[in-house]
Amino acid sequence: MTRTNDSEYTEHWKKKTEDLLKRFPEQKESYKTSSDIPIERVYLPQQVDDTYKEHLGLPGEFPYTRGIQPTMYRGKLWTMRQYAGFGSAEETNKRFKYLLEQGQTGLSVAFDLPTQIGYDSDDTMSRGEVGKVGVAIDSLADMEALLFEIPLDKVSTSMTINAPASVLLAMYIAVAEKQGVSSEALSGTIQNDILKEYIARGTYIFPPKPSMRLITDIFAYCSVHVPRWNTISISGYHIREAGSTAVQELAFTIANGMAYVDAALEAGLDIDQFAPRLAFFFNAHNQFFEEIAKFRAARRIWAKIMRYKYKAKKEKSWQLRFHTQTGGSTLTAQQPDNNIVRVTVQALGAVLGGTQSLHTNSRDEALALPTEDSARIALRTQQILANESGVVDTVDPLAGSYYVETLTDQMEQAVQSYLDKIEDLGGAVVAVEQGFMQREIHRAAYDTQRGVEAGEEIVVGMNKYMIENEVPPELLRVDPEIGQKQKEKLEKLRANRDHGAVTEALANLHQAAVGTENLMPFILDAVRVYATIGEICNVLREEFGEYQGV
Ligand code: 3HC
Repeated sequence: MTRTNDSEYTEHWKKKTEDLLKRFPEQKESYKTSSDIPIERVYLPQQVDDTYKEHLGLPGEFPYTRGIQPTMYRGKLWTMRQYAGFGSAEETNKRFKYLLEQGQTGLSVAFDLPTQIGYDSDDTMSRGEVGKVGVAIDSLADMEALLFEIPLDKVSTSMTINAPASVLLAMYIAVAEKQGVSSEALSGTIQNDILKEYIARGTYIFPPKPSMRLITDIFAYCSVHVPRWNTISISGYHIREAGSTAVQELAFTIANGMAYVDAALEAGLDIDQFAPRLAFFFNAHNQFFEEIAKFRAARRIWAKIMRYKYKAKKEKSWQLRFHTQTGGSTLTAQQPDNNIVRVTVQALGAVLGGTQSLHTNSRDEALALPTEDSARIALRTQQILANESGVVDTVDPLAGSYYVETLTDQMEQAVQSYLDKIEDLGGAVVAVEQGFMQREIHRAAYDTQRGVEAGEEIVVGMNKYMIENEVPPELLRVDPEIGQKQKEKLEKLRANRDHGAVTEALANLHQAAVGTENLMPFILDAVRVYATIGEICNVLREEFGEYQGV
């Protein structure tokens, strides 16, 4: 193997880093250990050769195994973005403000199930679910209350919404308009990943084809009108929560990502027009080193797919940027304080794996939505890792570890063999429709559960080190009247809005749905005149039908 002219490769990288530092100076003047030993930004092998270059690459250089930024957390910490939402928009607005006051650096909206499945709070289908697992949003009026006094030109917001993603995005843009903030200035993410809903999470409405149309309409619309918006958060989190292995989580997520790229290309979009705004979302589960290897392999796999298979030219099209949430399914109802330790280890894995954004679960989430105290401790966990542990002081510190590098390679190979299998089936959409991924996940979930029940897998506090007569902690209670209150709000809204304008907007939307136009502008017009999420989704149901699952 001829030696790379490593000075040329590293000189280029040093120049790129210097340029970046002019715009984004590092968080500290100098980095030293407690014994005053200087800490280098990046540690390199004695000789950077072709193997290093193609396999690891310098941080911020293709294939990004070591991270997507040359300076990573010395330039900017990951976004501390706690998933939050319950009850009414007003109550959730209070929790958002509390978390921002406590130092979180990004918003993340949890919607209740009726919102996620496109029903108004007063729909019979919504009974008992209004405001329960997230905030109830029926119309632009609720969205205005949710984002009250939150400057949308300063905060980036993630919205965990999939089937009706276009409706909530339209509401967000409409609230920004009322704040005098143009859509070009908005930053945030919409989850908008329907395939994992079919596979693992279940909040789907329409069949795959129209769902893909709605998704690529968002890609096209945002590339022109909301250029800083991440148009999809291709999620492995829920696939893992459904019981998959780390390899399956990564493989099925990447396969879904490729299906979205294919759909966007089929819709006539240019790869470098939409690819830079694709984002990902992974689970930070137990098995600390496997998780770190998973994140490092993820960047390398995606970078090669985007550069070599799809011929993307822009560097930003090759970079896999991701959010991480610690593994909800690892939390135990028993001895909930133990969960603080689980979350810490998992969060450390995400950080050492190079995440861009992080949610840390609260200790009581196996029992209920988090109390304010629990949510604060979860945020403090991130702040302690960021400010006290020193793990942010150098980029990708585990690089070169015999174990981590071997595991990263093994993850990449195992993921590739799943990707080949899925390609042979005809791609992710076909694999989902045939139930292939679902069967693989169910088998893995069964094996794990069997191991726990046989005591082969220890879950502290649950099948070992239990305590008797545990006193359950104080839990968050969602207002039982929330359903009634939302119903009354809807009655008032329908009485006071411009009925003619709503009827016209919904008729125009239906007309567009029958055709092939981008639906975003029509949905935006409908939300602006206070059409509700149920009314809008029912127009689309009429045209697209509803998916019945496999
Ligand atoms: N040097 C220079 N610039 C840097 C830098 C550095 N070291 N680090 C970051 N930056 C820049 C970035 O390039 C970016 O610039 P841009 O806006 O021009 O692109 C800017 O700083 C912001 O940084 P990031 O993009 O890295 O961070 P964000 O937080 O804005 O975005 C993301 C992260 C992963 C890309 C985005 O998609 C995101 O925030 N995702 C969050 C998704 C989420 O929260 N999901 C929750 C789901 S909850 C759920 O589903 C579970 C439930 O069902 C149980």
